Amino acid sequence: AAVATVGAHAADFPVKDKVVSIVVPFAAGGPTDRVARDLAEALRKPLGATVVVENAAGAGGTIGANKVAKAQPDGHTVLLHHIGMSTQPALYRNLPYKTMDDFEFLGMVNDVPMTVIGRSTLPANNFAELRTWMNANKGKVNLANAGLGAASHLCGLMFMEAMQFDMTTVPYKGTGPAMTDLLGGQVDLMCDQTTNTSGQIEAKKVKAFAVTTAKRLSTPALKDLPTLQEVGMKNFEVTIWHGMYAPKGTPAATVKKLNDALKVALKDPEFIKKQEGLGAIVVTDKRLEPAEHKKFVAAEIAKWGPVIKKAGVYAD
Ligand code: MLT
Repeated sequence: AAVATVGAHAADFPVKDKVVSIVVPFAAGGPTDRVARDLAEALRKPLGATVVVENAAGAGGTIGANKVAKAQPDGHTVLLHHIGMSTQPALYRNLPYKTMDDFEFLGMVNDVPMTVIGRSTLPANNFAELRTWMNANKGKVNLANAGLGAASHLCGLMFMEAMQFDMTTVPYKGTGPAMTDLLGGQVDLMCDQTTNTSGQIEAKKVKAFAVTTAKRLSTPALKDLPTLQEVGMKNFEVTIWHGMYAPKGTPAATVKKLNDALKVALKDPEFIKKQEGLGAIVVTDKRLEPAEHKKFVAAEIAKWGPVIKKAGVYAD
């Protein structure tokens, strides 16, 4: 009976009438949440289950990641996270989970460019004017982010380093709430993903100064923005990759079902249209394979660790 039960348990995913929760480790309304909601929609059919998004924000995304690391390994709780998975090991010296050991890697989702934006009342209409304004306001410029380990934190760090200019950082539980304050003029600048900024830029509710990719973007609202390399920041390049994870110990058959469903979802024309409309590039390469996803994250940890250490920033 025991063997039969184990066998049944491993193959018994999804459990009938049990939801699959995609945990987003940031507040609702931000770019990670945006990707998760579009993905939940596209996963419903291939998974044959109700898929919901659960926001578990805080500590730069580590609270939500830990929640999944410690969840039942039954496939019904998965994590959607981004490049923060590769910066947190260097930032958090007491991280409550081991990134490479405590998760099953389910495959990657997309790559999202970032934009440097400012409040609409900033007296600067291009990067040169922004630089002038910043130099005239040394010690008074602030930058919003989603906490240490967030993509907006990493980009902000690289931006300050490249500008050789210190800013006060204002952390939020996500760049959704941060955007609210930027729109209200409470903060000056933010480096955030196009999945959250392209609509506001198009509606001219924020000022846009540059993009963080090596090449200019093609989406109409963003195509005229210079890259940070064009405005003098050598080798500045960061795009925010997103991947899906399950707790370590999730049965291989369940990991396969989740990965198969992810591959179907990423080919869903609706999902692709939504994501590409926001400047995101849906993954189609080998990073869709769990083993390649895991290798990619290990390489990213090795890449970003020294950048974080050089900045001398620690979260704890
Ligand atoms: C980040 O900066 O990591 C994300 O924008 C956080 C979020 O999705 O709110």
